Amino acid sequence: MKFAIIGYGGMGNFHREKAFERYNAVVSEDFIETAGIYDISPEREEFAKGLGLHVFSSAEEIWNDKSIDAVVIATPNDAHIPYVLAAAKAGKHVVVEKPAAMNLSELKEMYDAAERAGVKLSPHQNRRWDDDFVTVKNIVDNNLLGKTYLIESRVMGANGIPGAWRKSAAQGGGMMMDWGVHLIDQMLQFVKGKVVSVYCDYSYRQGEEVDDGFNLEVKFDTGLTYRIVVDTNCFVELPRWQIHADDGTLQIDNWRNFKVEGKMLRCLIRHDDQLVGVDAGNGFTKTMAKRRSETVEELPIEVVRGDKTAFYRNFVKAAREGSDTFVTRRDMERVFKVMELAKRSSETREVMKETF
Ligand SMILES: NC(=O)c1ccc[n+]([C@@H]2O[C@H](COP(=O)([O-])OP(=O)(O)OC[C@H]3O[C@@H](n4cnc5c(N)ncnc54)[C@H](O)[C@@H]3O)[C@@H](O)[C@H]2O)c1
Repeated sequence: MKFAIIGYGGMGNFHREKAFERYNAVVSEDFIETAGIYDISPEREEFAKGLGLHVFSSAEEIWNDKSIDAVVIATPNDAHIPYVLAAAKAGKHVVVEKPAAMNLSELKEMYDAAERAGVKLSPHQNRRWDDDFVTVKNIVDNNLLGKTYLIESRVMGANGIPGAWRKSAAQGGGMMMDWGVHLIDQMLQFVKGKVVSVYCDYSYRQGEEVDDGFNLEVKFDTGLTYRIVVDTNCFVELPRWQIHADDGTLQIDNWRNFKVEGKMLRCLIRHDDQLVGVDAGNGFTKTMAKRRSETVEELPIEVVRGDKTAFYRNFVKAAREGSDTFVTRRDMERVFKVMELAKRSSETREVMKETF
């Protein structure tokens, strides 16, 4: 399949260099070929030429090229919709970077256009295949710690918001749009129940016009609470994941550079008759004393690797055969619905109660 890439910055280059190459390394037919790129920046055009890539002089050239099957759109977020609509009209299948749209109504417009044109549209929700996420989900799905009642998913950095457009509201910047869309998508893949309420508190601590982080709490009809925290000013970070279940706790600390490290403890003796109190702060506590080692067991964490070729294997097949993409319209509409309720909750300081 011949793909053109529109917007050849960090992520546009990732698609060619990493995602296409990983895909091509595992398939025996239907290889992905990069037909060329289009970018409004002369520097990025020069960069692409330096890699030996063809540079289109306009997006129209891509639409008019009958040999091109699909496009990847990896521009800043506000520029996604015009390209998605034009690509669909030209009969090209579309991979659009996340967040696909600026809001739910734009998202619907994109899917309507793709459906009308009979082309496949898939937002690039690649974090469904993150090793840490797949590992944690596997442990929860296999019920190793009993019923889960609280999931905490955090990403924390101390670099503020990098780059120019991510700081701009008009261009779809901010951490809810950047990371929220991934972490909410993971949540809705993880939890099978219906959302019943959303509470969110956006942070504007660094003085940007967009949120530099947020605390989101979503409750499900299964009784589960899912908390998502994004912070860009945290110099000593908290764990990436904490899974609180009836019979134990799982914590994943390290998740960068494909490492997945943490600790999982399961309760062996619920009521410890020999529990003794300890001094703590200017006081004394039995409740918060550490567990005696005989009453808990440490379980090994089986690291599961997410399949880094799954997204494109599925997308190419869907485009060729008309089958479903992994990332569906319904998935995306639910993600955008949570984001919209989160925004309203942060503005009103109220819990948004809706079931979906
Ligand atoms: N899925 C992921 O893991 C992931 C990671 C990073 C970024 N992204 C997404 O990828 C997209 C691009 O992010 P990035 O980090 O690569 O940004 P970037 O700034 O590195 O690259 C954006 C590129 O788009 C070009 N551009 C801007 N406006 C354009 C237009 N109208 N037409 C054509 N080209 C245009 C810029 O010149 C630049 O080269 C965003 O939607 C972002 O949210 C996804």
